[in-house]
Amino acid sequence: DNKGLKDVYKDYFPIGVAVTPAQLRDPAQQALILRQFNSLTPENAMKMAAIHPQEDRYNWQDADAIVDFAQLHHLRVRGHNLCWHQQVPAWMFYDKAGNLATKEILLSRLKAHIYAVVGRYKGKIYAWDVINEAVADGGDQPLRNSPWYQICGEDYIFKAFQYAHEADPNAVLFYNEYGTESPKKRDRVYQLLKKMIAAGVPVNAIGLQSHWSLTNPADDEIKTSIKLYSSLGLKVQITELDMSVYANEDKADSTGYTPQRESQQTQRYGQMFNIFRANRSVITGVTFWNLSDKHSWLNNFPVRGRKNYPLLFDRNLQPKKAYWSVVNF
Ligand code: G3I
Repeated sequence: DNKGLKDVYKDYFPIGVAVTPAQLRDPAQQALILRQFNSLTPENAMKMAAIHPQEDRYNWQDADAIVDFAQLHHLRVRGHNLCWHQQVPAWMFYDKAGNLATKEILLSRLKAHIYAVVGRYKGKIYAWDVINEAVADGGDQPLRNSPWYQICGEDYIFKAFQYAHEADPNAVLFYNEYGTESPKKRDRVYQLLKKMIAAGVPVNAIGLQSHWSLTNPADDEIKTSIKLYSSLGLKVQITELDMSVYANEDKADSTGYTPQRESQQTQRYGQMFNIFRANRSVITGVTFWNLSDKHSWLNNFPVRGRKNYPLLFDRNLQPKKAYWSVVNF
């Protein structure tokens, strides 16, 4: 039969994938994307350094290619992302004299950036990751000590949502974060969101990145996070799903895709989607971070030269056993 993930899940939520423009031009990858998915996230093309390399110059080519493809094929697009501590263009944090920018300058640049990018795709991008990864993993200070924070304090977070809402009042605005299943970080993110909502900041949803492994996080932690954030009235999306076959800390391990790992992954993917389906009233999308094991950012990371096997399609774009456990329920 001709069904893909998007068809199997049509009564639950859209199923997305992170892509590059080059993938959309490759016939085999294009065919797989169109058969399986109904939502796209640009993996890198809309990040600040890529789309806004100089203060007076935007580079729309790659981002346009993805949005045009989506329009042509009636796919949704999630915009990723408007403000992050990585992939920031070098000019952003400095004034013309080469000194650290003031808060006033930095917020005016952030506003110009968000107005330009969100404005260009108004009506074509239905959801934006407005702020990405602003919360610290450890330490005493809940917010990440990035240049954004050092220069603006928490205001940059609040303002970014306000600017995005002004630029497209219909866009669904996300706070996107990883590691939200560990209690300390989960609570920090919760407190931040609660404060934003109390202050009237237009945040609509939380993106749980979900870069998981065969053993982490525990199912109960995932359920707890979904429940906690949705208790604030926020919608939830799984925005960057993958499942490394290595334990996070085990950098020495490169034993690969053993039959045992294959069966563990198959079972766990099935169980993850059980949890997602059970939460269909609050989950409004599930997106995989990359198309196949060949394209995963986890190849070479965090160990150079090591291959990973975190997705539902293998290096020949064929569905893995894990795919069938997600489809057959
Ligand atoms: O495009 C340049 C190229 O010109 C240059 O020669 C080359 C040399 O390193 O780098 C290329 O840029 C790379 C870029 O991907 C495009 O391929 C960067 O080095 C590389 O760091 C970048 O990695 C991306 C990473 O975000 C950046 O931190 C990954 O592809 C992307 O999958 C990853 O995605 C992030 C999400 O945005 C946020 N959540 C975590 C997730 C995984 O890290």
